[in-house]
Amino acid sequence: MKVVHTIEELRDQLRGQLRVSFVPTMGNLHEGHLALMKLARQHGDPVVASIFVNRMQFGPNEDFDRYPRTLAADIEKLERDRNVYVLFAPDEKEMYPEQQSYRVQTPDGLGNALEGEFRPGFFTGVSTVVLKLLSCVQPRVAVFGKKDYQQLMIVRAMCRQFQLPVEIVPHETVRASDGLALSSRNMYLTEAERAEAPQLYAELQALQARLKSGDIDPAQLEHAATAALNGRGWDVDYISVRRRSDLQVPVGDDVQAGTPLVALAAARLGATRLIDNLEL
Ligand code: PAJ
Repeated sequence: MKVVHTIEELRDQLRGQLRVSFVPTMGNLHEGHLALMKLARQHGDPVVASIFVNRMQFGPNEDFDRYPRTLAADIEKLERDRNVYVLFAPDEKEMYPEQQSYRVQTPDGLGNALEGEFRPGFFTGVSTVVLKLLSCVQPRVAVFGKKDYQQLMIVRAMCRQFQLPVEIVPHETVRASDGLALSSRNMYLTEAERAEAPQLYAELQALQARLKSGDIDPAQLEHAATAALNGRGWDVDYISVRRRSDLQVPVGDDVQAGTPLVALAAARLGATRLIDNLEL
């Protein structure tokens, strides 16, 4: 695997390649990330991965400074897996040589809801860096995880509207055996919190079961799941049943008509904010 830190070196490595597939990350790689690289390999060759902790997508009180930076260990994992041909690991000066005054504005409905409501500016930061990374790597395919469901939808819509010549391929959420979605942020959890953390997914599964058994009022289901978690010491930002197509709140007979739905959740456990989702 070649590790490159500049756009010029990246271009040198990829000259003439027409079937590049790409997996952008912020590093601290886990099995979820590695599964994305494996899927990328099935969709193209060579595979490029990037590691860049993007300041623009962090709020002023978020964890940018303490976000785990583990480049040496990440390189070892990628070397062992042998799916990635080039790792692009730029520093901030390389990605943002001047103040980024042009930014991707996300649409209100999609960009300001859910994660966008609780993390203002987050999706502008994500979309802007993803657009820049796509422009650096120029892949034919890019793989994103369904763990970040809203991010995947926003990136997809951005590529469609800007007619970027890239196909966005989704990967299912990779979970620990107890159901907890793998995340770089899980390392912030204390032992007791780690034991409690699978409850987030468990509540989404309970909500799904109730919906399937005929409890069709999403608001009631959301309320029950929220109360259950808050009662166990969580601090829920949202648990929301949405239409998969546009992440809007289901209306009229959406639920009874079998419109595809997804439940999305974000909640804090101690100092750690976790997100998860489940297609219903
Ligand atoms: P990061 O959180 O490092 O995630 C990189 C990619 O891995 C994303 O597509 C994310 O959805 C996926 N991923 C993370 N955990 C996963 C899991 N348990 N199962 C499946 N996929 C998983 O998401 C970002 O970085 C950034 O916002 C980024 C897109 C790189 C832009 O800065």
